Amino acid sequence: MTNKYMYFIANWKMFGGLNSLNSLHKVVKFFKNFKKNKSIKIVYCPPNTLIRPMSKKLETSQIEVGAQNCHENETYGAFTGSINSLMLKNVGAKYVIIGHSENRQAGETDKLINLKIKSALKSGLKVIFCIGETLQQKRKKITKQTLNKQINLGLKKINNKNKVLVAYEPVWSIGTGLIPKSSELLNTISHIKKKIKKTKVLYGGSVNPKNISELNSVNNIDGFLIGGASQDPKKFIDIIKKTYN
Ligand code: PGA
Repeated sequence: MTNKYMYFIANWKMFGGLNSLNSLHKVVKFFKNFKKNKSIKIVYCPPNTLIRPMSKKLETSQIEVGAQNCHENETYGAFTGSINSLMLKNVGAKYVIIGHSENRQAGETDKLINLKIKSALKSGLKVIFCIGETLQQKRKKITKQTLNKQINLGLKKINNKNKVLVAYEPVWSIGTGLIPKSSELLNTISHIKKKIKKTKVLYGGSVNPKNISELNSVNNIDGFLIGGASQDPKKFIDIIKKTYN
């Protein structure tokens, strides 16, 4: 049970075509009638190909749309195959996920992440900044050092941190069904909050209707970044309902 303002961010990753938008009305209807909807922000982050049609579909709802990544260049340029934050804003995105571990693993550095965050903020997007330790780093007990480094470099020289939400996503938890122990999570989230003052901190990694009550018992979490389960409207709705039960 919670009375807090909570974020529910759906990360669709590289899934979905136009027909995936057909089931959105279920979430729209649920949200409209949900009595706690004033204390909730829902943001869908579909693949770039769906940002425009999804924004149109959600136009009259309170649900917002975001992207999953952006190029670091603030202006247009000769970068074949890339999309920058201005372009995302232009088609209806209000948020962008930056620093997701799947991109970090593909070679995205803290420095590049920092440039992307700066360009996104400059374009007027809010940023969902992902950080998290690998299993190896957890075993070596260097979780906090790892997060400190990601935060120090990723948010270097960024002043308007109030437009940045942090998503703590342990890499070993993404898509695996594993979640951190509540006591560990409480401790890590409070560490992040001490380090970046006045920032909302969300949790991500295998969030589903079965574990949401356990996760939500960690009372310093400000919301969830949900991958797999967010593609199924029933599961997504269940997660939100159970957060407020
Ligand atoms: P998952 O993904 O919920 O499928 O573990 C979360 C994420 O990668 O943001």
